[in-house]
Amino acid sequence: MPLIAEPLHDLFAARVTGLDMTRPLTEDEVAQIVGFMDRYAVCVYPNDVPLSNEQHIAFARHIGPMQHGHVLTVTGRKDRLAAWPELVDVGNIDSEGNIQAPDSRARQFNNGNRLWHTDMSFHPNRATYSALNAHRVPPAQGDTEFADERAAYDALPEAMKRRIEGLVASHSIWYSRVLSGFPEPTPEEIASRPPALHKIAQVHPTSGRKTLYLASHASHIEGMPVEEGRALLKELTDFATQHQFVYRHRWSKGDVVIWDNRCLMHRATPFEDFKYPRDMRRTTCREHAVVEPFMH
Ligand code: OGA
Ligand code: MN
Repeated sequence: MPLIAEPLHDLFAARVTGLDMTRPLTEDEVAQIVGFMDRYAVCVYPNDVPLSNEQHIAFARHIGPMQHGHVLTVTGRKDRLAAWPELVDVGNIDSEGNIQAPDSRARQFNNGNRLWHTDMSFHPNRATYSALNAHRVPPAQGDTEFADERAAYDALPEAMKRRIEGLVASHSIWYSRVLSGFPEPTPEEIASRPPALHKIAQVHPTSGRKTLYLASHASHIEGMPVEEGRALLKELTDFATQHQFVYRHRWSKGDVVIWDNRCLMHRATPFEDFKYPRDMRRTTCREHAVVEPFMH
């Protein structure tokens, strides 16, 4: 059956219906899903009930090599979803089922999601698609915002396009965590995930469109004085996240939202996170098959 995509924004983002995500996909369905991703970059799939963890993982397997296990160490993190190493827990619930304590390092780590970022730019084997499933949503707020970096690139002044061509940024998870209030990372944490280098202007490989590739993980630009590079990264991020480039998703329980990390930034927005549980589980696809060892 053909899937139906209804645009949610002038530039990107669509709501897709007509797919049963609980069953194995046909080749034709996979081609439609990936085709919509190249056109819209963020697609919302409503579901009456959240997917089971197994269904979620089976779905994501269709759209690329998958993330499996942690790619870095967060001291003391007890993984609620440890039985499903393909799932990343971005909610605020601890392994006992309670709302995470204020001083929980896992909470402080996930607070970094409130900065504009793209998943795994701090890794040489980048994330392609992230698929986030809402299991429990707060009664208000807790939306996720997405910014279209292909549209932002197109809208840059020509002089800026020339200035940034070929520039390479260094991305470190620890840089964005410290910016967002995570305590000073331990030597073990730092050693578990060194920075990665990526061009800030790129061709989005599957659509052929030019895009920015930015994230709060980007600490500086190679070969440029740190403060000058940081100022340029801030200028570009401010430009790319203007309201005309942003789609804000208000979650309903069951939604699966898939986004392309190679051409979007996203961020979590605040809610009463000491009062309400927000249970969000993510699968992540990667550019290349994952070879690194499992970490805790
Ligand atoms: C993520 C993320 C934002 C949110 O899952 O990668 O950044 O709103 N999530 O939970
Ligand atoms: Mn993210």
